[in-house]
Formats: sequence, C-alpha cells, structure tokens
Amino acid sequence: MRVLGIETSCDETGIAIYDSDRGLLAEVLFSQIDTHARFGGVVPELASRDHIARTAPLITDVLGDAGLALTDLDAIAYTAGPGLVGALMVGGCVAGSLAYALGVPAIPVHHMEAHLLAARLEEDPPEFPFVALLVSGGHSMLVEVAGLGAYHTIGNTLDDAAGEAFDKVARLLDLPYPGGPALAQLAESGNESRFDFPRPMKGRGLDFSFSGLKTAVRLQLESESETAIEDTALRADIAASFQAAVVDSLVDKSTLAMQDTGQTRLVVSGGVGANASLRRQLREAGERHHFQVYYPRPGFCTDNGAMIAYAGWCRRGTAASGAPQIQARPRWPLDELTAVP
Ligand code: KG4
Ligand code: ZN
Repeated sequence: MRVLGIETSCDETGIAIYDSDRGLLAEVLFSQIDTHARFGGVVPELASRDHIARTAPLITDVLGDAGLALTDLDAIAYTAGPGLVGALMVGGCVAGSLAYALGVPAIPVHHMEAHLLAARLEEDPPEFPFVALLVSGGHSMLVEVAGLGAYHTIGNTLDDAAGEAFDKVARLLDLPYPGGPALAQLAESGNESRFDFPRPMKGRGLDFSFSGLKTAVRLQLESESETAIEDTALRADIAASFQAAVVDSLVDKSTLAMQDTGQTRLVVSGGVGANASLRRQLREAGERHHFQVYYPRPGFCTDNGAMIAYAGWCRRGTAASGAPQIQARPRWPLDELTAVP
C-alpha cells in the first residue's frame, strides 16, 4: 500500500510517500521561515496562503522523486489537527479532493500521534509499549503508549510548551525566528553554569511549567545594563543557562515517568526533540537508569510529511470512504484517540 502524507498544520508544507513494503519512498518539505521571520512568529493567514501555493507543486515533486504517478497512490493521509485551522483546511481540502478524484480513502491524522510514531520510521524502531516525550511548539507532554492509538497522558505543561519557551526566550535575546534552533546555536558558545535559572516543578510529579523560567530570564536581562543585549558573551551565557534549565526539567520528568510506569523505552519527538543537548542528556539518563532512548532523525522531530504518511498507513483501517469528509480540528486531545486493534 502506498500512502501520500500531507502536513500543513503550521508553517511547514511537508509531503511524503510511504510504502508498506519498501518504507519511505520520497519526502519533500517547504519551510515558511522567510515568510514569517519579519513578524517574529507564525502569521496564520500567511501560513494558509503559502500552503495553498505550495501543496500541489510539492505533491508533483514527491511523485517525481518516487517515480510514481497519482494513480499509484492507495490512500491520502493528511494532518487533521491539532494546528492552525486555516492551514489544516488547506491540507484537508487537497487530500479530500485528491482522494475523491482517485477513488481512494482520505485518512485524517492526529499531528501529535504522527510525532509519537515518527521514531518508528528509523532503523531499530521502538516496539510498543513505551513512554513518549512529545516536546514541540504547542505541546510538552509525557504519554504512556500501550499500543497504536492507546495513549494515556501522564504529564503535561501547566503553562508554556517547551518549544514556546525556547521561542519566547529567543525573542528576549533578540534572536531571529524560529527561536529554538537559533537559541540552541547561541547556547553552544555559552557558559551554562553562569546563571542558576529555576527548574520549576522539579521532583514534583510529571507536569511541566516553563513560564516562570521565561520570566526569570526576562528579569535577569532587565537587571543588566541597557547595552546588555549587545553583549554576545552575556547573551550566550543566558541562552546556555536557560537551555540547561529546560533540558534538566525534561530529563528529570522523563526519568521519573520511566520509573513510575516501569517502562523500558522512551521515545522522544517534536521540534525540541531535535535539540542536541536534550538528546545527549536523555541518552545519558537512559544509561544511568536503564532505559533505552529512541529518537527520529532531527529532521523528523520537527514537522514533516513522512510522519503523516507513516501514521496514515498505521491508521489505514480508520479511513472514511464514500463522500469526502474533511476534518480540521484546531484542538484535539491525544487521549481522545482510540486503540487500533
Ligand atoms: O514539532 P514542531 O516542528 O512544530 C510544532 O508542532 O509545534 O516544533 C517546533 C518547535 C518550535 O518551538 C522550535 O523553536 C522548536 O520546536 N525547536 C527547537 C529546536 N528545533 C526546533 N527547540 C530547541 N532546540 C532545537 N534544536
Ligand atoms: Zn509538530
């Protein structure tokens, strides 16, 4: 079975083809960074318009890369939520129309389920059950995964998501959008022990909180001289100390989750899962506490079409047939999904 995956939930148009026998056949991605950079964040209306312009040409590209025609596709999977509603509707409409015209099913995919399954596209994929740490721009959660579709959220953020905290602190440090990768890069040259930023909720349950940390960075900057923002060494030390606090928090909660659940596999995904320091420190924690850590490659931690094509294949039994029905759900709790037998 060959599944075309369409990701348009935010600021990346990702298209890919997954083949149940041969794995991933081709994958293309267009990032809207240049469109949103001058606004310092994603502008939903511009995101939707850009998806309209990109989706169809990228489908042509991915088919060309895979050496296939539209008629070789057996299903069209698309991100149905959570995400920006206008952006979701673009992918949903393209997927629904294409599926209807080709007479194949359209498969709505939950974006966070796709993140959670992305590591299974890699060699040595994690078997079920496992614990997933999902850390993206909109979510920070720990999920106990009994099997496909059987998700129980055991930890969540009480305020900002980890990626959101990276993005907000990056803005305080005058870094370009998207903030996470820029901040991580600046942190490489900084001293992470210079500032002892708070580790909110450390040792207290599995929930996260990052907004106090962001405030601590702001107060630190305000306590510095007016020209502090021009001091690259100071900014790098703040970036490194902030990143250390976030990573410490994520490692602490993930380790606690592994101990609480008795699971032996931790699967990390979502944009912040691309963070090199987080990857390194989780692996070390896994060695110390005897759990195995699995990641997708960094490019499959951030939004992409491959994870949607793969999740669509996993959910092929749930596809609606007959008249096209397009789903776009800006909010969609992961725990609402039901187990796939
Ligand atoms: O999963 P994703 O691509 O989109 C959402 O579904 O939200 O995650 C994007 C988030 C952004 O907040 C971005 O700043 C953050 O992931 N991010 C990073 C890194 N790469 C992306 N945060 C820290 N370090 C990185 N290397
Ligand atoms: Zn995402």
